[in-house]
Amino acid sequence: MPETRTLLMIASSLNPDLLKTPHELGLEVVLAAAVPPADDSLYDVHLAVDEMDEESVLAAVRSYVADGGKVDAVATFHEGALHVAARVSAELGLPGNSPEAVRAMRDKYVTGQVLAEAGVLTPQTKVVTTFSQAEAVAAELGFPLVLKPQASGASQGVTKVENAAELKAAFENIIGLYEPESFTEGEYSVPNVAHIYAYPQAQGVLIQEYVSGDEFAVDLVYGGGEFRPMAIHDKPYPFAEPHFIEGAYATPSALPEADQMRIVETSVAALKALGASVGGAHVELRLTDEGPKIIEVNGRLGGTTAFVQESIRESTGVWGPREYLRAVLGEPVDFTVKPQPTPAGFTPLLADRTGEIAGFEGIAEAEAVPGIIGLRWMAKPGDHVVIKYPENPVSCFALVLAKGESREDVLSALEGAEKALKPVYTN
Ligand SMILES: Nc1ncnc2c1ncn2[C@@H]1O[C@H](COP(=O)(O)OP(=O)(O)O)[C@@H](O)[C@H]1O
Ligand SMILES: [Mg+2]
Repeated sequence: MPETRTLLMIASSLNPDLLKTPHELGLEVVLAAAVPPADDSLYDVHLAVDEMDEESVLAAVRSYVADGGKVDAVATFHEGALHVAARVSAELGLPGNSPEAVRAMRDKYVTGQVLAEAGVLTPQTKVVTTFSQAEAVAAELGFPLVLKPQASGASQGVTKVENAAELKAAFENIIGLYEPESFTEGEYSVPNVAHIYAYPQAQGVLIQEYVSGDEFAVDLVYGGGEFRPMAIHDKPYPFAEPHFIEGAYATPSALPEADQMRIVETSVAALKALGASVGGAHVELRLTDEGPKIIEVNGRLGGTTAFVQESIRESTGVWGPREYLRAVLGEPVDFTVKPQPTPAGFTPLLADRTGEIAGFEGIAEAEAVPGIIGLRWMAKPGDHVVIKYPENPVSCFALVLAKGESREDVLSALEGAEKALKPVYTN
């Protein structure tokens, strides 16, 4: 019997399928997380520590190792813990992205600089901390512009602006979103997701040239010099500008083969330029007249709570969390996707108003829609909803996953579920 290998997983997850994957690979799991999952069969050792605080995690890991514990690989599925995993894997001499590569991906100002330098298409990007700097940048770049936090997620704060008044409103909104613990409207209050995605020392306001064009996302796994795409997701519906709350994803891409190749090539070029070496990635791009332009490079698998990986698995047979774990274990990145992928996709279901959720209606109808194969709750009775875009981007109460014989089947299943399933509010 070969010796059991131990995986140090930094941050837990709400996705039970993903949490099962390390044990399915025969790994022992040491979980560094403030809150472990309710099901304690999913891990073997719990290090009770704030997973986003690198010094605390490093201290906990050092003492675990000093007590004779071993670690063969380090993984995280959580954006807010990428820098922590990078520090730990560097210190232990294990495969993983370096802290510099994580910074280059998480700090979108650095991303813009590095990609421009490397000749990978990306919007012109400036960072400011005062409104007079913002005015100067606007004068230089010209409207329309996109303002966003230097490092956040879930489209928090991301706003298209067309004039000086909108510039001021968006600037003030973003400067003000790092601090609050929560966002409140009347008697309703929700936690500020800036803390979930916090990245130290990157709290400016980013100003970018607005990129028009259809948007795509690519999920990849890489290691040992190999960068392999699992899927391109099309985003079939336009964003409700001036905000950019995510909607449905559908895969495989309906783009012509040549465009798909350019999208993958651009994503790989971006990852290489940013120094990504071992891990997963979710790259967002817009297809422009000049070619695919990088919007964002996330150095982790796409939406591990949002059905991104399940959609890929239905479509291609590849389970991203498994391939990512194999990469950080130092195994070859050698998966192959099904030659004729099955159409699949998912959509978040968004609450329509501020209030307290009492329950949901239409669950059975939604589940009975032909093609619907998964439903995941993102809210429960008693939870508050605060619709306050863009500083609070979170309004998703559930996700639905679909597959079908065609793209149309998938989208109509998602639309059917969306029509049927609604939150009920307490008043
Ligand atoms: N420069 C830009 N031009 C056009 N749209 C943009 C630009 N930057 C962001 N967006 C839109 O906003 C969305 C969220 O921005 P992104 O940088 O990906 O933030 P997050 O990290 O919160 O996902 C993108 O998916 C895209 O639709
Ligand atoms: Mg994004």
